[in-house]
Parts: sequence; structure tokens; C-alpha cells
Amino acid sequence: MVPKRIFDYDSVEFDRNLNALVVLDQTKLPCEEVFLTLRSPEEIFDAIYLLKVRGAPAIGVAAAFGLYVCMLSFEGTAEDFEYEFERVKEYLRGARPTAVNLGFALDRMGRCFYGVCGHPVEDIKKALLAEAEAIKEDDVEMCRKISENGLALLHKNIGILTHCNAGHLAVSRYGTALGPVHLAQQRGLCPKVWVDETRPLLQGARLTAYEMVKSGMDATLICDSMAAVVMAQGKVEIVMVGCDRIAANGDVANKVGTSTLSVLAKHYGIPFYVLGPTSSIDRNCPEGKDIVIEERPAEEVTELYFAQRIAPVEIKVYNPSFDVTKAELITGIITEKGIFRPPFDFSAL
Ligand code: MRU
Repeated sequence: MVPKRIFDYDSVEFDRNLNALVVLDQTKLPCEEVFLTLRSPEEIFDAIYLLKVRGAPAIGVAAAFGLYVCMLSFEGTAEDFEYEFERVKEYLRGARPTAVNLGFALDRMGRCFYGVCGHPVEDIKKALLAEAEAIKEDDVEMCRKISENGLALLHKNIGILTHCNAGHLAVSRYGTALGPVHLAQQRGLCPKVWVDETRPLLQGARLTAYEMVKSGMDATLICDSMAAVVMAQGKVEIVMVGCDRIAANGDVANKVGTSTLSVLAKHYGIPFYVLGPTSSIDRNCPEGKDIVIEERPAEEVTELYFAQRIAPVEIKVYNPSFDVTKAELITGIITEKGIFRPPFDFSAL
């Protein structure tokens, strides 16, 4: 199937005919639209680790369906089922450390399992599928509400700068940071989107640009180092980014480069908004410095996406995949439950 428009398909699906997790391979975009059929724990782990499926909410949904798919073919005693369920659940949890959604979805699957674990194995499997579907539906609903809440901040022809890809590809449907942007376009506000390329893995240049083109958006790609230029020219009126984990004090981990943008936005007096579901708030994590930042292979910086290696073999490389934006640089955090503003207090949630 070659999808025509961005909302013609979801990037993560459970296929009932194939009894498999089906994901759009985001490492092949924008050149090829390839859907992967995944069944084994190793295939699902690799798809998440290698960013074939990526974006905090999407990896949570993929892990939930993935865990179910891995247990689907299980035949054996209830005791063995529990052992295998725990083994696969904890294995998948290790695929990526920063996004809270992965652990959140797997913990939900765990609670579902222990709610039905005395029942026949076939009933347990049915309950696990229903839970994974509910996780996806909840994500769709949260994104819909985040999009409406974010839309309230947008006016006709507004210039919006975004980083990485926090759109339809990164979630179950619509997006977080790009949710209001899609909605604004559907409602005739004609937003003008500035897309950061997002080094080193180019989620902006490859994925957000693809998503913008597929949806007919007025979008312009820039290198990360050009954000200050378009801000100084008055072309950016609001910055909207996603999040992987929100600490209890409002510090936010998101794709590396986000905190740089927040500093620039403050300098140029541009409102800086983070968009994500309240499930991304980790109340067990007091501050941003407590968030585990994923470090990825050096080759992503020195080789990947270049026709030939661009750095000397001997050079040391540091490749943190995320950074932390300090709460004081954030104008607001837009969630499905409304917009939180500093000083951030999530205790009522
Ligand atoms: O490494 P990635 O591509 O998974 O990083 C994704 C991001 O940083 C997104 O902004 C975040 O996960 C939110 S997606 C709605």
C-alpha cells in the first residue's frame, strides 16, 4: 500500500489478519514508504532501538501491541506464560531509556495481565489485546485534545517553528507539537511552518518535512543552526516542540537541540511551548538532571546519511540523543488537560 495522504494510515497498527505489529519504517522515509511486519521480541526491540518506529507515544503503542504479539503464539502453562510475559516486557523496556511512554505502556500491560492472570491463557491474550488497543485509543484522544488546546494559541498565517518530529508519524494519530498545526491548516488558518532539520538523525528534514509535504502545508526546512536567523527576521511567532519526559518541576527532555531553541526563543521574546500528554509527566523524577539521556552510536554523527564519512576516524564523538530544557525557559506545557504555566505544579493531576 502506498499512502496518499498522511492521515490515510497510522504509523503503528496491529494487523488482525497477519497477527502482527505493522509499522511504517521511518528510517526509509521520505524516499520509500515501507511497512514492516513484526512478530518476535528481537524484531520489535530492534524496530524501536533503530528508530524504525520512533516518537515517544508511538514507541509506547508499538511496545504494547508488540508485547501482545509476542505472547500470541505462546502455548504452555499459565506459569510459563507469566515468566515469558515478564521476560519480553522487561526486554522491550530496555530498547530506549528517555521517553516515559515506553515504560508507561508496558506498565499498563503489566497491570492488565495481573488483573486477569488466574484466567485461561486464551482469555489473558484477549485482555492484553484489548489493553493495547485502549492504549492506542487513549493516545489518539489525548492528541486530539492537545491539538484543540494548542490551536487556541494560533492565528491566521502564524509562523511556527518546530524541532524533530512530534507529528502524526510519532504518535497514534495527529501528533502533539504538530497536532495544532494540522488542525490550524484544516480550519483555514494557513500556518507557516519552519522545520528544523534536527541533526544528527534528521527527523525534521526526513520526517516532519515529509509529513508537511504530504499534508500540503506551507513549510520551509532550515538547518538547526539557522533558527536564530528566522527568529531575528520576525518569521517565527511561536515555537512548538514535543517531549519525551517532563520532570516534576517542569524541566523537559526532548530531542537534542530543543534546549538551544528555548534559549534563542527567550532572547528573541518568542513564546516557547512544549506539547505532550500528562502521561509524559514523571512525578518520580524531581528535576531534568534526573532524566536518563540516551546516548547513541558515534556513527550517527560521523557517517549516517552522508555519502562518505565526514569526520576523522580518530575523533572522539559525543552523541546525546535528547537534552533537557529548563522549566524557566518554557512559556507553557500544552496537555490534553489544558495548558500548564510556570511555576509548574502537576500535583493536582
Ligand atoms: O529519537 P526520537 O525521534 O524518538 O525523538 C522524538 C522526539 O524527541 C519527539 O519530540 C518526542 O518523542 C515527542 S513525539 C510526539
